Amino acid sequence: MTDFTARYLSDYQVSNFSIATVDLTFELADTATIVTSTMAIKRENKNAKQLVLDGEQLKLVSLQINQQDLPESYYQVSDTQLALDISADEFILTIVTEIDPLNNTSLEGLFKSGGAFCTQCEAEGFRRITYYLDRPDVMSTFSTKVIADKKSYPYLLSNGNKTAAGDLPQGKHFTCWQDPHPKPCYLFAVVAGDFDLLEGSFTTQDKRNVALEIFVDKGNLPKAHHAMASLKKSMLWDEETFGLVYDLDIYMIVAVDFFNMGAMENKGLNVFNSKFVLADNESATDTDFFNIEAVIGHEYFHNWTGNRVTCRDWFQLSLKEGLTVFRDQQFSADMHSAPVNRIKNVRLLRSKQFAEDAGPMAHPIRPEKVLEMNNFYTLTVYEKGAEVIRMINTLLGAAKFRKGMDLYFARFDGMAVTCDDFINAMSDASGVDLVLFKAWYHQSGTPILSVEEGFSNEQYQLTLTQTNPSQKDGSEGKALHIPVAIELIENNKVIRRQLLELTSEQQTWTFDNFVEKPVLAVLADFSAPVKLSINQTDQELATVMAFADDEFCRWDAGQQLMLNYIKALIDDSSFALPNSLLTTYQAIFDANTDNAFKAEQLSLPSFDEVVAEIAQVDPIKVVNAIAAVKLFLVTGLTASFEKTFIDNKASAYKYSGEEVGQRALKNVCLSYLSLLEQQQSKVVEQYQSSDNMTDTLAALACSADNNLVDLAGQLQHFEQKWHSTALVMDKWFSLAAQQCSTNIFSSLDRLLAHPLFSLKNPNRARSLVGNFSVNNPRYFHCQSGQGYQFLAEQIALLNEINPQVASRLITPLIQFRSFDLPRQKLMRAELEKLTTLKNLSKDLKEKLDAALA
Ligand code: ARG
Ligand code: ZN
Repeated sequence: MTDFTARYLSDYQVSNFSIATVDLTFELADTATIVTSTMAIKRENKNAKQLVLDGEQLKLVSLQINQQDLPESYYQVSDTQLALDISADEFILTIVTEIDPLNNTSLEGLFKSGGAFCTQCEAEGFRRITYYLDRPDVMSTFSTKVIADKKSYPYLLSNGNKTAAGDLPQGKHFTCWQDPHPKPCYLFAVVAGDFDLLEGSFTTQDKRNVALEIFVDKGNLPKAHHAMASLKKSMLWDEETFGLVYDLDIYMIVAVDFFNMGAMENKGLNVFNSKFVLADNESATDTDFFNIEAVIGHEYFHNWTGNRVTCRDWFQLSLKEGLTVFRDQQFSADMHSAPVNRIKNVRLLRSKQFAEDAGPMAHPIRPEKVLEMNNFYTLTVYEKGAEVIRMINTLLGAAKFRKGMDLYFARFDGMAVTCDDFINAMSDASGVDLVLFKAWYHQSGTPILSVEEGFSNEQYQLTLTQTNPSQKDGSEGKALHIPVAIELIENNKVIRRQLLELTSEQQTWTFDNFVEKPVLAVLADFSAPVKLSINQTDQELATVMAFADDEFCRWDAGQQLMLNYIKALIDDSSFALPNSLLTTYQAIFDANTDNAFKAEQLSLPSFDEVVAEIAQVDPIKVVNAIAAVKLFLVTGLTASFEKTFIDNKASAYKYSGEEVGQRALKNVCLSYLSLLEQQQSKVVEQYQSSDNMTDTLAALACSADNNLVDLAGQLQHFEQKWHSTALVMDKWFSLAAQQCSTNIFSSLDRLLAHPLFSLKNPNRARSLVGNFSVNNPRYFHCQSGQGYQFLAEQIALLNEINPQVASRLITPLIQFRSFDLPRQKLMRAELEKLTTLKNLSKDLKEKLDAALA
């Protein structure tokens, strides 16, 4: 029987025991791997009697204290723990366990990905390898010996530096590793397999040579170069930006096909979903190239923000994740266009994080109650967490922020600390008062920032009001410290720029010496993660679009304008859109801005962004309204879309800023044009002539979204060409699931039965099941409820196979309160069915309980 007891932040207690060193030996075998753990343990709390170690799915083989077998009466084993009665205060504990990696489909602990063994220990997977104090504040020095068959597993890897290697009888061999940096067990990793190895090196600013090694499946070596270049850029960037230098002689990355998430920052031995490593010009999109660099950066930056300074407990997860996402966002901004990156961050936040924060799993960036920790690797902890760090950066300014980071490392290097420790370092180093600011860490929900303007006697008045949603415990939302960056525009020129700090429910600022009421551009660079409530006329929005200095504001004014009309169409589908919209849109084409930015300006708010703005909305009305605005624009401005499409056809594929922007702009235009029958030959032509995955997929997406007659042939051709490239077939499954066709449910059944489909592979499951429920809203939300039923059925299967993946994919169902009552009823019914599953995992149980409460 699964233990459904929640844990609370307020219950934190320091560990009764410490583990100075741990020595692990792995004798790898598919279904019976033997793990021998030898730990030097010390009692830290004299009143503590029992030593209670965590352990799950383990077979206990033997147990010794100071090399003496421990009699059975001195210990008790349960499904989740090993409790030992030991009187000595310091002792050596040796535990031998047996585990079954081959049948471990949860992909937590030690498992097999294709032919290789690998591990995933964060958050609490190490307890599936051996009995241990599986908590981040227990830090130990690890040494590891890995033994396996030499022919099948020529590479045996673990954290730190290699200290010995050699052959053993019966065709086996071994390698020993020693990690000099004490670490919590969630950063432990072991990998064994037969790989191709890409080698590189990096010279640190203190002139040390670091060996860089990227391990990929045989045959994929040519696809690892972009990852290697990205790693070098990350290492240099962290030295130059934060003065942070790498601290081991070797940095390894292993790419695996079976992985629950993006990647994992294990000390010196990152394990990556191959999706964030492998790329070449034919098989990867511009977005893939971009994401690889970002994720490589993210994991690398964890070496300081996460590994050198780690979390005291899992409630503090945002300490390392929010900060590291902020760092990877800054890195991407420095490598590419800063405003376009900012826009992408904000789109993600508004479309997905706002929904999470308004749904049943809403939690503060530092959660207070957790049943299954894996459920808290969320957009809130990561993305909103990064916004909170960004606000500190905004309030302090870059120079003082850097001083704060320096102090943070000076104080806490080698320690496991809390979010409060971080804020205090920032505040102490800068002299900036962050007491009120801390509320961002314990309050959930998206604040609404309302803006009222007044003008009289040459004086402009700006009143900002914040409304914070009530909390889960019923308490009212309190006022937060919100940085609001503004610009005031007069005569088409920005004449004032200011950072306002809203620290109470309502504040008014006055600005003197204006002849006329200025036009306001608010939340420059999206200075706070809030929803904006403001009434600006079309004329004002057009002024901001054209004349604000801040590019985010220019883009956002266009989004606001479009959103207003999408809302009008949702209210009344016969609403007549004004021709002035065409003039405003034409101005986007005519402006002298870069292509990537233009592409973002021309892209309408997404389905999720619109849903986040309207209570209990009919999802089909949202789909229709967005489509109607799009059709209106392309009908009115066909020539501009067509010209821009043609002007931006690039020659041979290259991944460079200029060309990425051109392709993005061209493909946005194609997506508009594909709504017009007489333009649809362009889609076919692009599919046939494309030499790169970005353009191929853009054409396919047009075919799928409009259910064009050529779709079937294109999908067939694509499948034939790419059937043996897993990452590309993921894209194929995604597109097929996105087909906007009444036949979609029979297509989905065929896709599930496809020889290349398996729910055991998370990337595959996400591409088919995930993409259908997120990117095919017309059919996912169809009135019959078939879409919801399809998702629920797959989740039921995944509950047994891989609870983490099941729990991620259930997101669109638990957010049912965003939709109209008939949908709510249908979605609830599916959730209720799921509650009756036998062997319901903690992961799903926590979400179902929250959703149905
Ligand atoms: N720490 C990893 C990262 O870089 C992610 C680990 C996610 N773990 C999980 N159980 N979902 O973001
Ligand atoms: Zn991370």
